[in-house]
Amino acid sequence: MIDVHSHLLPNIDDGSKSLADSLDLARAAVEDGITDALMTPHHMNGRYINHAKDVVDLTAQFQVALQEANIPLNVFPSQEVRINGNLLRAIEHNDILSTDPEGRYILIEFPSDDVPSYTMDLLFKLQQMGKIPVVVHPERNTQFMKKPELLYQIVSSGAYAQVTANSYMGTFGKAVMKFSEDIIDAGLAHVFASDAHHISGRQYQMAAAFEKLGKKSGDQMPVLFEKNAKALMNGNKLVRFEESKIHKKKLFSAY
Ligand SMILES: [Fe+2]
Repeated sequence: MIDVHSHLLPNIDDGSKSLADSLDLARAAVEDGITDALMTPHHMNGRYINHAKDVVDLTAQFQVALQEANIPLNVFPSQEVRINGNLLRAIEHNDILSTDPEGRYILIEFPSDDVPSYTMDLLFKLQQMGKIPVVVHPERNTQFMKKPELLYQIVSSGAYAQVTANSYMGTFGKAVMKFSEDIIDAGLAHVFASDAHHISGRQYQMAAAFEKLGKKSGDQMPVLFEKNAKALMNGNKLVRFEESKIHKKKLFSAY
């Protein structure tokens, strides 16, 4: 499996706190079946700045450490970028990493309780620059939960979305799990990722998530999700699904 979102680089954000922890996380990733992982530290989220060049250097160093520890995990530099008013300028200054060498896809994070009013305008401008936004874990955003039509609007205007495997497996509670399922059922998610931070807090559940997806949504869906993870890393076109709105009524009755 390919993991397109993780915080394994030590000591640069709220993820791994030491190289030893990073190596343990990498072992857990391999154990779960992951062969390739994007290193996606937070960037411009108000708390952490991780410049593109630094992430590239640290990822190369981590790859050496993995090889020395005989852990068969290939790692690639990227970032989890908080949506912010300076994003376009940061792209122009080459300080934003994509998920792929073509510079096509960018992982975009929203504040956990907000979808800023300038979102649609910014995502449109990104696409005008040839950058395709991939919204990370929308299922954990309370605003999307309250107004799921916002996510529909974002995805149907050309963005993609990544659901976190642990959310889908219930680690963050029933409401987040149900919303993850609703997002996937509505064709508004395209890929799973671990978003791994700490070995103790969140176990790798990528394999379990793929298994659940197959049972709930049919054998073809895990194949397409995996294909999309590969496409994100290679800069190829992702598979889209038939998108529908998540109805609030359905949501409220579920929570
Ligand atoms: Fe993350």
